Amino acid sequence: MGVEARIDDVVLCAGAQHGLFVVLSHLASRARAIYVEELTYPGIHGIAEILRLPLVAVGMDADGIDVESLARVARRHGPGVVFCMPTIHNPTGTVMPASRRAALAEVAREKGLFVVEDAANRMLEPSAPPPMRSFAPERTFLVASVSKVLSPGLRVAFLVGPDDEVHAVTRRVWATHWMSGPLGAEIVATWLDEGVVDRTLASKRRAAARRQAIARRVLGAERVVAHPRALHVWLRLGDAWSTERFTADAARRRIVVTPSSAFWARPTPPPRAIRISLGGLDDARALTRELESLAALSRAR
Ligand SMILES: Cc1ncc(COP(=O)(O)O)c(C=O)c1O
Repeated sequence: MGVEARIDDVVLCAGAQHGLFVVLSHLASRARAIYVEELTYPGIHGIAEILRLPLVAVGMDADGIDVESLARVARRHGPGVVFCMPTIHNPTGTVMPASRRAALAEVAREKGLFVVEDAANRMLEPSAPPPMRSFAPERTFLVASVSKVLSPGLRVAFLVGPDDEVHAVTRRVWATHWMSGPLGAEIVATWLDEGVVDRTLASKRRAAARRQAIARRVLGAERVVAHPRALHVWLRLGDAWSTERFTADAARRRIVVTPSSAFWARPTPPPRAIRISLGGLDDARALTRELESLAALSRAR
């Protein structure tokens, strides 16, 4: 993961979603808002609602979260938590370069913000810059899970944070889940020792690269926004499409895609786009067929 941590500072959680809930509920009393990339992981909405914290959208560009826009909104809304996905952002696949991570750390320090890094996809990109923890260890929490690489069914995730916060975070794990399933953790530990994780990771990265190449070819490189090793693509739709209509038409063809509204954190209308998951289909011919069906649909207007 590229994360330096002592074993006592790693908190086991029942998946990244649980880790995010635990850490955000730990920080809630010191936050007036959760600052998110304007396109963000949908699972954050439910957490914000339960914690009664507003989600405040921050602009993005090709390098990730726009730190000037973050500084502006933080001035208005006050102390809070930045929730972000610096490596293989969901849904756009963006990887924040080191310079942007450093700038984010600086704004966080200046405005007294905590940073929660969702590293769900980080294992797919071995050459990513160091995690946010390297830039602002005193205020950053990282949540990483094995769901994307091994299996979401294991419900195993790792949470790392500043030394003086870890005990309080652990108490929230006890309060919500008592302990994370030892069986899942034991399986992951054994697979780490035996090299299964490394082998699976290598084959997942190769599969993702193969599937991305197919997606770019079939859907058209100019309309696809994605990372070459991600397990999802973001497809921009033409002006003639309503995203919800496209999603419903795809469902009629028995293809499930996620509309932009699921990720959009602003009150304004979302962009015309969908997220296509490439995680499920290993058979290149079947994947090509499904993507061709979506490409034909997208040209139908
Ligand atoms: C960006 C992101 N964060 C967190 C999660 C939740 O993962 P987990 O299965 O470990 O709870 C997902 C799952 O799809 C995700 O895409």
